[in-house]
Amino acid sequence: KIAERIETLLARMSLEEKVGQLAQISGADFVPGPKAEEIIRKRGAGSVLWLNDTKKFNELQKIAVEESPSGIPLLFALDVIHGYRTIFPVPLAMAASWDPDVPEKSQTVAAREARAAGLHWTFGPMLDICRDTRWGRIVEGAGEDPYLGSAMAAAQVRGFQGDDISDPERVLACAKHFAGYGYSDAGRDYDPSYLSETQLRNTVLPPFKAAVEAGVATFMSAYMDLNDVPASGNRWLLRQVLRKEWAFEGFVVSDAFAVANMVIQGHAKDRREAALRGLKAGLNMDMSSYTYTENAADLVAKGDLTVAEIEELVRPILALKVKMGLFEHPYVEEGLLEKVVARPEHRQVSRWAAQRSMVLLKNEGGLLPLKKDIKKVAVIGPLADSMEATEGSWMVFGHKPAAVTVLAGIRAKLPGAEVTYAPGPEIRRDIPSWFESAMAGETRKPAQTPEESDAAFKTAVETARAADQVVMVLGETDLMAGEAASRASLDLPGRQEELLKAVAELGTPVALVLLNGRPLSVNWAAENIPAILEAWEPGTEGGNAVADILFGDTNPGGKLPVGFPRKGSHAPLYYARNLTHSPEGSPMYNPRYWDGLPTPLYPFGYGLSYTTFAYSNLKVSAPKTKVGETVTVSVEVSNNGGSSWSTVWGPYYG
Ligand code: BGC
Repeated sequence: KIAERIETLLARMSLEEKVGQLAQISGADFVPGPKAEEIIRKRGAGSVLWLNDTKKFNELQKIAVEESPSGIPLLFALDVIHGYRTIFPVPLAMAASWDPDVPEKSQTVAAREARAAGLHWTFGPMLDICRDTRWGRIVEGAGEDPYLGSAMAAAQVRGFQGDDISDPERVLACAKHFAGYGYSDAGRDYDPSYLSETQLRNTVLPPFKAAVEAGVATFMSAYMDLNDVPASGNRWLLRQVLRKEWAFEGFVVSDAFAVANMVIQGHAKDRREAALRGLKAGLNMDMSSYTYTENAADLVAKGDLTVAEIEELVRPILALKVKMGLFEHPYVEEGLLEKVVARPEHRQVSRWAAQRSMVLLKNEGGLLPLKKDIKKVAVIGPLADSMEATEGSWMVFGHKPAAVTVLAGIRAKLPGAEVTYAPGPEIRRDIPSWFESAMAGETRKPAQTPEESDAAFKTAVETARAADQVVMVLGETDLMAGEAASRASLDLPGRQEELLKAVAELGTPVALVLLNGRPLSVNWAAENIPAILEAWEPGTEGGNAVADILFGDTNPGGKLPVGFPRKGSHAPLYYARNLTHSPEGSPMYNPRYWDGLPTPLYPFGYGLSYTTFAYSNLKVSAPKTKVGETVTVSVEVSNNGGSSWSTVWGPYYG
């Protein structure tokens, strides 16, 4: 039935319109070229991105449906990575929950809100396994392990898409960036990746395969060269692996401008050849570079490409539009979003997801949980009251942060206490982020002068001195991780460690809360600060979740999805490595470096809680096994401490 409908549509479409479906056009002004309205009216379009305006969606859709020659509706697409209006912990944090329910429930809410705003398609989940903690985009994925990564991949696909993509509360998901982007040389964003087929098959590809098995509708090709061939023109990846081996039936979109980038990458001599390479490789949709629309007709005219080849690429795009019910329901109800966002469970899921994601790294002497009858708490640090750092990297286009900060969360938790605050010296990137000005439309404040920084430092120390308990909130700002946000060092940026030392010297008990989107080498803190909570970038309810944990209403249970190296230069440092002739700890040739321990500061899987566990009755079903047979290992675990994971939302989510 669907196939018939598609053939009927194709039969009445001109070549220009067919090529139009292969284009994802920009709804934002920063891409030069004709306005979206003009393109749509003339030839239609597969999709529009970088637009986040419900009214405008309906206007453009009306042009597509009523004025374009074949009246094919548009797919509106945007990056909804960890929440649309209600923001959830960043994906790396959700992976720390080790609970697929966390991303599934979070992305269900994200999909509902995004769809209510008029979006049909999100560019997530991001499935790049990453073992180089310097890479800024590690924040968007599930960390270093393919098994955990696959579980998180499938859960996110289920969350976004549900069981039925015609459900009006769901969006199409997109598995990205296919493939190898997390392995760029030395973690430098966009640089080439070199991966053996063994590494690809064992480590990089499994989450993508899991996404296909979970029914993911679309894929996005990566930016970089994989083994010297751009992923967006990589026939082996897109045809052999994805379609032939995995039987993927959806469509593939390029990353932004990636088709045209094949010229810059030296893979195509001009845009015409870049278009040809993308099309031949099986890349269905050109994101924002207009290379297909400019060249496809000429490629057909000159005999480099057949109409049948174009149609083969158009079919899965039309199929998804049909399956979603877009032809029957092309428009979105204006005003629906506000009603949907007001559903109380959206914030509840956000708070629960944040609680479940946090990792207790240290709790010497049981400093945590803190007592609620405490009189005077100082909350110190540049991120303590930062909504941006709390919501984290990859905000939806045009989103205004509105998070409960750690300061606000602690104030809400302790109505009877005096809660003071000082940010200390500001932190900022040495080289600013493009996203700061271009995407967020913000103008950069001038940097603090050395005098201003000193004054802020002093005020912070004095504020801490006057308190009975200090909570330091340190880490990285939202734009210090993410796209184009790699770092060579993993130290706390700016003067944060200096401030931590000065405050610790006062002798007042200090609990450190980290807000960051990647592992940090907090070596000094790990030695000298009694309590450390890794809160990541926890989302809208982040500050409440931090306060729930600090004051014992919730028991932290997250475990690291990626190891924390002692130095940035130790990356990649991962647990699943082969044995060597000289295992660590053997007397010869050790340690691996002569200038410090090569082991992680905190390993993969690490995380404490407020309770204690006992393990007993370990059993292995068979002492020996053959390849292909199953062995069952069982162990009894009992919670013999005083705390269960949550007293706040436990009743809500069991
Ligand atoms: C990123 C993608 C993203 C796309 C669209 C690119 O710069 O690499 O992850 O989905 O932009 O916003």
